Amino acid sequence: MDKIKSLGKTGSLALGLIVGVLMTLSTTFLISRRARRDTSSKSARLHSSEIAVNKIVNGVEGIIGNTPMIKIRSLSEATGCEILAKAEFLNPGGSPKDRVALSMIQMAEEQGLIRPNTGCVIFEGTSGSTGISIAMIARAKGYSAWIVMPDDQAQEKYQLLEKLGAHVEKTRPASIVDENQYVNLARRQASEFNSGEESNADHNSDGVKRRGFFANQFENLSNFQAHCNGTGPEIYKQTDGKINAFVAGAGTGGTIGGVSSYLKPLIPELKAEGSRKRHQVDTVIEGVGLNRLTKNFDLAREFIDDAIKVTDREAVEMARYLVREEGLFIGSSSAMNCVGAVRVARMLGPGHRIVTILCDSGQRHLTKFWNDDYLIKHNILQQQTPPIDVLSGSERNDSSNDLSRIM
Ligand SMILES: Cc1ncc(COP(=O)(O)O)c(C=O)c1O
Repeated sequence: MDKIKSLGKTGSLALGLIVGVLMTLSTTFLISRRARRDTSSKSARLHSSEIAVNKIVNGVEGIIGNTPMIKIRSLSEATGCEILAKAEFLNPGGSPKDRVALSMIQMAEEQGLIRPNTGCVIFEGTSGSTGISIAMIARAKGYSAWIVMPDDQAQEKYQLLEKLGAHVEKTRPASIVDENQYVNLARRQASEFNSGEESNADHNSDGVKRRGFFANQFENLSNFQAHCNGTGPEIYKQTDGKINAFVAGAGTGGTIGGVSSYLKPLIPELKAEGSRKRHQVDTVIEGVGLNRLTKNFDLAREFIDDAIKVTDREAVEMARYLVREEGLFIGSSSAMNCVGAVRVARMLGPGHRIVTILCDSGQRHLTKFWNDDYLIKHNILQQQTPPIDVLSGSERNDSSNDLSRIM
């Protein structure tokens, strides 16, 4: 943390923070140590930051990405820093996972793994957002979606998936070593589909082989590339490259990995910070947190510097603060990111610019994160406890370095 404090107000400094959660939520900081890796693949053309809103775009894919950057006035005034948030919840599928789903599907098509309108099925293990994005794009492009999810996520996500026509399979939350963990189950379902064990399902009516494709957002580097080729350049353009900190929670690590690998070579002395949650089951915050090192997170690892902690309660209070002060109705990981942004603003001091991500809307979290009865029942809120000051920067002012513990 000393390193971060010592950054002072140097204008050229860029600092990125990934906010995530450990057992009771924590964040890990990243610092770039080498130049951007070569991501010069075909997917570079997948997401253009030049898409003009006053043009006609081709289908739902045309409105993915190119999201606005919002100045969060109340947090900016309170901290003396400019706190900016990229409104990823405005993607058509409601999260940055639209970029990732499109990138993975396009890459699979380029590699000849799937073909539209031939009965191909896309399988994915997901806490929800990626499944929703895949289901949406699958519909648009002529595929089916088979989504495996832990059974403890907000009900809205299952409902949305069903409305989008996905096959939804719920499984109990489990460790990655468990063969029925949601990612393992999705992988197995895809493999069984391909081995023809699905009854009479191996050919479509034209005699063309139906294929199952396991998207695998955790290990598939099309995820990283979607952010390196899309989100990162958009942030750079929207800020003219003037960024002191980037704050984002890590689920797969695709966002922090891709964005920081794009920004760091362009912004001298760029620093990035972030975290991952160790046990997703221990928190009300959905979409972030890992209990293993994934390929996408591994790419981000070289940027990680330090860690801070964010509690469930801080995220809940931040979400309520932002709706009260800004009319911004955000989901749990977005609220956590904003806690992280305030924390970094307090560490850096006034005069800095911090960018974070608003991943999804509160509408996707009505039954858990935005449900007081649920929060009280799970001891995240107490009926009598006065609200904490979300602007102070920390519920418990714990700036211990968790990096060595989690990496
Ligand atoms: C709502 C939400 N927030 C944050 C994240 C984390 O993003 P990433 O997987 O790029 O680390 C996810 C990932 O699924 C998500 O669904």
